[in-house]
Amino acid sequence: SIDVSSLTKQTGLTALDYGFVNTASTRSRITYIDGEAGILRYRGYPIEELARQSTFLEVAYLLIYGNLPTADELAEFDGVIRRHTLLHEDMKYYFEGLPHTAHPMAALSGGLQAMSTYYEDSLDTAVPEFVEVNTIRLLAKLPVLAAYAHKKSVGQAFLYPDNNLGFVENFLRLNFGNMAEEYVMNPVLVDALDKLLILHADHEQNASTSTVRLVGSTGANMFSSISAGINALSGPLHGGANEAVLDMLGQIRDSGQSVQTFVEKVKNKEDGVKLMGFGHRVYKNYDPRARIVKESAGRVLEELGINDPLLDLAQELEQIALEDDYFKERKLYPNVDFYTGVIYKAMGFPTRMFTVLFAIGRLPGWIAQWRESHEDSLTKIGRPQQLYMGSPERHLNRS
Ligand code: ACO
Repeated sequence: SIDVSSLTKQTGLTALDYGFVNTASTRSRITYIDGEAGILRYRGYPIEELARQSTFLEVAYLLIYGNLPTADELAEFDGVIRRHTLLHEDMKYYFEGLPHTAHPMAALSGGLQAMSTYYEDSLDTAVPEFVEVNTIRLLAKLPVLAAYAHKKSVGQAFLYPDNNLGFVENFLRLNFGNMAEEYVMNPVLVDALDKLLILHADHEQNASTSTVRLVGSTGANMFSSISAGINALSGPLHGGANEAVLDMLGQIRDSGQSVQTFVEKVKNKEDGVKLMGFGHRVYKNYDPRARIVKESAGRVLEELGINDPLLDLAQELEQIALEDDYFKERKLYPNVDFYTGVIYKAMGFPTRMFTVLFAIGRLPGWIAQWRESHEDSLTKIGRPQQLYMGSPERHLNRS
């Protein structure tokens, strides 16, 4: 790779690169991807090992601070997060003001921005202690905001977090518990959700992470930068694909058309229909996360005793696509979003919460990338060039 930062100044030439297909925007030590080989590593550790042997909080620590925590460091990290879970009580008015139809992703990004107004005395990005405390606030409070966005959408009362519970347990109770009875934890769900969060925790310079870095490069604080990242994630070509996959599977089922007919429609690019949950800018091989999610989906449904025809439909769709020349030639394989929705649905989450779950998983990555960008002496405000294609100078000529 070549450093072209000062090319325009030296030569007057500008590289036009739609979608930044060939442009690296930063150096990073956080995540390694080899898209051709289907390899993903966080801080050097293969994703398969982390998903099998670690927990989401350990992975969050690894991404943010660079190494896996010792037992004492993990206990301290977990404890301090538990003690920061409460939202300012007035945040209930934020949620009260939203219609119950509000999309949970919009409620989440707006809620995060609203929450930052309670911490205006500690937003200076140049003060390391503020960065530390806001790191913890984000990890502790974003899941609570997410659960309240869910509760709002189904018209149920908000619960206060329970500091006796671990990260994932607390999150599940806030989403599915109620005031009338004790929430019974299902270890299968806890384990599956923990694993899914690990798989989503970072993915180098994807659209939402690049958004977080770009907004952060202006000097904006972590709350504002990550709120912008949540909005970038919401798009159906990015995190919103997990919601779109379930919608697509539901439409195929309800239309009564065969899977093959739907695939033909995709290949003919009819009405711009795409196979959602397929394809990736970087992976030109099976997304290693999708492989783990697929195994998990089968196991979770089996253990919960759920027989979801949408899983069978997804598997049939994958099989047909993998054997089809259109998909083979373009190296289109299932990505992480293809099977996650089936699991989230089995857990009881409404479809519109799926991308919110992605955001909770991606949070440590956004934090780690924001922090790395601020620690990198070469970081400067992100400001792409353009090639102007508009009208030459013209005049109003009004007398
Ligand atoms: N279904 C059908 N055709 C596809 C798909 C798909 N899912 N994805 C790409 N293609 C086709 C394109 O139409 C194009 O075909 P052409 O050469 O005949 O014009 C070719 O494959 C190359 O695709 P691009 O759009 O150039 O690939 P790009 O890297 O820009 O896009 C993206 C990657 C956005 C992920 C794309 O594959 C897509 O839209 N997938 C569906 C949405 C999705 O699942 N997004 C989640 C991504 S993972 C994540 O964010 C966590």
